Amino acid sequence: MTELRPVTEAAAVKVPTLPDAQTVTHVRHWTDRLFSFRVTRPASLRFRSGEFVMIGLLGDNGKPLLRAYSIASPSWDEELEFYSIKVQDGPLTSKLQHIEPGDQIILRPKPVGTLVHDALLPGKRIWFFATGTGFAPFASLLREPQTYEDYDEVIITHTCREVAELDYGRQLVDAIRQDEMLAELIGAGFADKIRYYPTTTREESPRMGRITELLQDGTVFRDLGIDGIRPKTDRAMVCGSLAFNHDIKAILEGFGLREGANSDPREFVVEKAFVG
Ligand SMILES: Cc1cc2nc3c(=O)[nH]c(=O)nc-3n(C[C@H](O)[C@H](O)[C@H](O)COP(=O)(O)OP(=O)(O)OC[C@H]3O[C@@H](n4cnc5c(N)ncnc54)[C@H](O)[C@@H]3O)c2cc1C
Ligand SMILES: NC(=O)c1ccc[n+]([C@@H]2O[C@H](COP(=O)([O-])OP(=O)(O)OC[C@H]3O[C@@H](n4cnc5c(N)ncnc54)[C@H](OP(=O)(O)O)[C@@H]3O)[C@@H](O)[C@H]2O)c1
Repeated sequence: MTELRPVTEAAAVKVPTLPDAQTVTHVRHWTDRLFSFRVTRPASLRFRSGEFVMIGLLGDNGKPLLRAYSIASPSWDEELEFYSIKVQDGPLTSKLQHIEPGDQIILRPKPVGTLVHDALLPGKRIWFFATGTGFAPFASLLREPQTYEDYDEVIITHTCREVAELDYGRQLVDAIRQDEMLAELIGAGFADKIRYYPTTTREESPRMGRITELLQDGTVFRDLGIDGIRPKTDRAMVCGSLAFNHDIKAILEGFGLREGANSDPREFVVEKAFVG
């Protein structure tokens, strides 16, 4: 991989100073297409759980090659976590997938995004709808105390093609449920508010099908013992492909929910997990 070497006296002339470099502390590969990693956090970086930043490496031309990434860790964490695809011919991830602890990446400390609590009106139940790496912002929000302060019930749905693609999310939800520090921060019993609803579409699993279809035919509501989605009580955040976002937006609007934004809080918000 391209290394962002620290600027030594000898190298100072040739290697540009990169004030936005952060050090990789941990890497875990989940499948041949998915990995997660943690990096040091710039002391000055403040963000709201659910936001994204630009991260990357130095390109072959010596210029930063940056892509948008949701921060998967919560705002209180002393490190930053990311959950990433590996696109074999992708300009960034063909290289990024090879990072190891001790390597450096570039992180532009300007967090933005719509998947934030401020963009929603108060409600009783929040739905997080994710496909693929769209789980990343919810990995942050599921560890954010405000999620449990604001809502009585937190439903996270995750649809992937294959069972192994659910592993990062499944293990995270399990770990959150047993996390003593979170229980101390949020209050004992917070874990009972989490409902986890994983589905696969191309490999056999206990729950098969696109979440959009399972919402439309009522399966989700029957499975969870809920009598539907209503604008008065339900709020939603959505993160997946453009096609997924488009389809679920129509379904939520059909239930009477309206799309909100930071400047105009309403009943649901949407963010792209990737473009294309
Ligand atoms: C707001 C926002 C947040 C994002 N957050 C994340 C994140 O948390 N984790 C993450 O892995 N990616 C995320 N992405 C996508 C990311 O910016 C890059 O596209 C991705 O890292 C691949 O970069 P690349 O240069 O290797 O390939 P690119 O040239 O960027 O993409 C090549 C092709 O690969 C496919 N692709 C790209 N990203 C994904 C993906 N995440 N899942 C499935 N297919 C994909 C698309 O078909 C795309 O056209 C986000 C994108 C946006 C717009
Ligand atoms: N995942 C893989 O094993 C794999 C392998 C090689 C290449 N790729 C390529 O990588 C890209 C991204 O693949 P991905 O699997 O990460 O993301 P994806 O294609 O967005 O699929 C992720 C999950 O979302 C579902 N989904 C897609 N569109 C939807 C919609 N409109 N409404 C409801 N659910 C929807 C998919 O179901 P469906 O299965 O029904 O589409 C799948 O379960 C694709 O271009 C793909 O060709 C993927």
